[in-house]
Amino acid sequence: MLRTPFVPTALETVRDLLRCLSVGKDDVVLDLGSGDGRIPYVAVTEFGSKAGLGVELNERLCAESYSRFGDRIEVICGDLYFVLPALVDRITVITAYLSPMLIEELEKSLLSLRIKGVRVGLHDFPFPNVKPVKTVKSVAEGMLWPLESTLYCYEL
Ligand SMILES: C[S@@+](CC[C@H](N)C(=O)[O-])C[C@H]1O[C@@H](n2cnc3c(N)ncnc32)[C@H](O)[C@@H]1O
Repeated sequence: MLRTPFVPTALETVRDLLRCLSVGKDDVVLDLGSGDGRIPYVAVTEFGSKAGLGVELNERLCAESYSRFGDRIEVICGDLYFVLPALVDRITVITAYLSPMLIEELEKSLLSLRIKGVRVGLHDFPFPNVKPVKTVKSVAEGMLWPLESTLYCYEL
């Protein structure tokens, strides 16, 4: 199984990502590898999205996100590659902050599922083949120095 460690996206960068994807009231936002659940939570509470979902492999993080935000978001504990096919009909926006190898697999999965009309936002690691419609630089305050990220926004 391919894994990426938990490195949370800074909240300012979460907001930049959701802005880049023009998230609003008609959207159902799914974060693949949702960590502590911050992206779907911010989507619902600050951007007014209809729903926020997360899929997380790490059981501790899954339980933590459920206990913190479970009243506002839905978190599924499991491997995103098994869970994704069951969710594609429900979602309008996908976000992910995963390693390049996982992003390459994700690109293949999304293309093989023939997903259409879904916006995708990737943090730092872009799809190897599909070109983004927008690329945004995000700078967030860090503990010691500013955290710089690149956000890639796609329309499938
Ligand atoms: C870099 S962190 C990003 C967390 C969160 N999306 C954020 O931006 O704050 C990547 C997360 O993906 C999870 N993850 C890695 N591989 C996964 C898989 N195959 N299925 C579900 N979650 C996975 C890790 O446990 C980790 O919490």
